Amino acid sequence: QMGLKTTLLGQKIHYFEEVSSTNSVAKEIAASEEEGSLVIAEVQKVGRGRMGREWISPHGGIWMSVILKPGIPLRHASRLTLVAGLAVANVIRDMGLDARIKWPNDVRINGKKVCGILTEAKAEVDRVDYVILGIGINVNMELKDIPESFRAGSTTLKVETGKHIRRVSFLQDLLFELEQQYIRFKTQPFSQILNDWLALSDTIGREVKVTTPSRIIEGKAVGVTPDGALIIRKSDDTKEEIIAGRCIYARP
Ligand code: BTN
Repeated sequence: QMGLKTTLLGQKIHYFEEVSSTNSVAKEIAASEEEGSLVIAEVQKVGRGRMGREWISPHGGIWMSVILKPGIPLRHASRLTLVAGLAVANVIRDMGLDARIKWPNDVRINGKKVCGILTEAKAEVDRVDYVILGIGINVNMELKDIPESFRAGSTTLKVETGKHIRRVSFLQDLLFELEQQYIRFKTQPFSQILNDWLALSDTIGREVKVTTPSRIIEGKAVGVTPDGALIIRKSDDTKEEIIAGRCIYARP
């Protein structure tokens, strides 16, 4: 219906002019949807970020959620965040921009955030029923379209390229790349995807401060585990693995 190059992702598209949050809508319908269905909106009124934060979602961006049913154990669901980050970074790199990934899920250009990913899963015992892959990309907005308090550290594809981006062709490319990576995720050892992800990550090797709801961990990011947890070596030389948190680089 829109020149898709995929056979799984986006076969069914729920398009909205305005929505609360595409992740919330996707969650409501996920149980009765086929894998690969997409919820996409021009504007989100209550866009959600990680750790309870707000996600600013005005006209000009791509705000979407993909419903996946990979039938994996819940502890592997966070791997899909890395899969999505890799796919987004690859598509932006194909445009000639130096996209990098900041653990766990920010895609950035020149140190500024252009995409965020919010993965939500529902599981029965330890098997996931579905995973919602929420992807938000700042595409054609100007910086003035982002409220001042959120603007620092953000950028858009239009700002970085100086050109208007055709969102439909960008979305076609993104869904194609995401489908390729998802097929790889289901058929190949995860270490392959992890290696590609590591090659694009700008987190490993840096001094970081990670905030979780319960504590703050400081040290050097030295790797990620197969489930995507960040490994931090602290000043006392012990290591810690952090599955989710807010990561700040000590030096920019
Ligand atoms: C983050 O970096 O904190 C994650 C941001 C995720 C934003 C996307 S936009 C589409 C989907 N719907 C939402 O409400 N959030 C995600």
